[in-house]
Amino acid sequence: MPRSSLPLRDTPQVYGRVTRALHWSIALLLLWQYMTMALKLGFGWSPRDSAVVGSHSMIGTLAFVLIVIRLIWAVMNAAHRPAHGGGLIGIAAKAGHGLLYLAMLIVPLAALLRAFGSGRGFAPFGFTLFPTREAPIEWMVNFANAIHGELGWVMGVLILGHVGMVGLHEAMWKDGTLAKMAGRKALR
Ligand code: HEM
Repeated sequence: MPRSSLPLRDTPQVYGRVTRALHWSIALLLLWQYMTMALKLGFGWSPRDSAVVGSHSMIGTLAFVLIVIRLIWAVMNAAHRPAHGGGLIGIAAKAGHGLLYLAMLIVPLAALLRAFGSGRGFAPFGFTLFPTREAPIEWMVNFANAIHGELGWVMGVLILGHVGMVGLHEAMWKDGTLAKMAGRKALR
């Protein structure tokens, strides 16, 4: 069956084209986010000297927008998406995905809160999201400082777990889990 036969919306058998486009573009943007921070922490590249590292805030904001759209689309498709299955593994899969969604919302939101609270102004892609302000809002900056980086790394571990579980499905159970998000055919 040609690729175009993939449905736009999700079905109980496969994720549709919209979910796939959002899933893989968010995956790429998150990979970029961790790469920029690895360059910053590993090689000491600063956002001021490196456009790559400096893109972290901008790309993170774009990722956040796509994550919100992804969540809305998931809710709109909730009644006819592929199920996680029953039993302990199914419950663990649901819990894992729930935690991942939660982290994907909180991590960039915390950074945006900090950008707002700092009062320095924030204009991703040239669009003024937060104008400059006289005084910073200390509690906001401190609160966001305490969670963005730490939870960002926890989220990295959750992503590795997510990828590892797909690998396990492919190697051990061979149940076509990856094909639901990456396969070229609309499974029957
Ligand atoms: C989902 C998207 C994002 C992910 C996965 C992410 C992840 C991370 C990680 C892992 C760190 C390293 C913390 C450390 O030094 O140990 C970091 C730092 C940083 N992030 Fe993000 N980030 C995201 C979005 C954003 C956004 C939207 C902004 C700005 C609005 C931002 C601004 C920063 C800044 C300024 C730092 C360096 C200071 C700090 O450690 O907090 N990030 N991020």
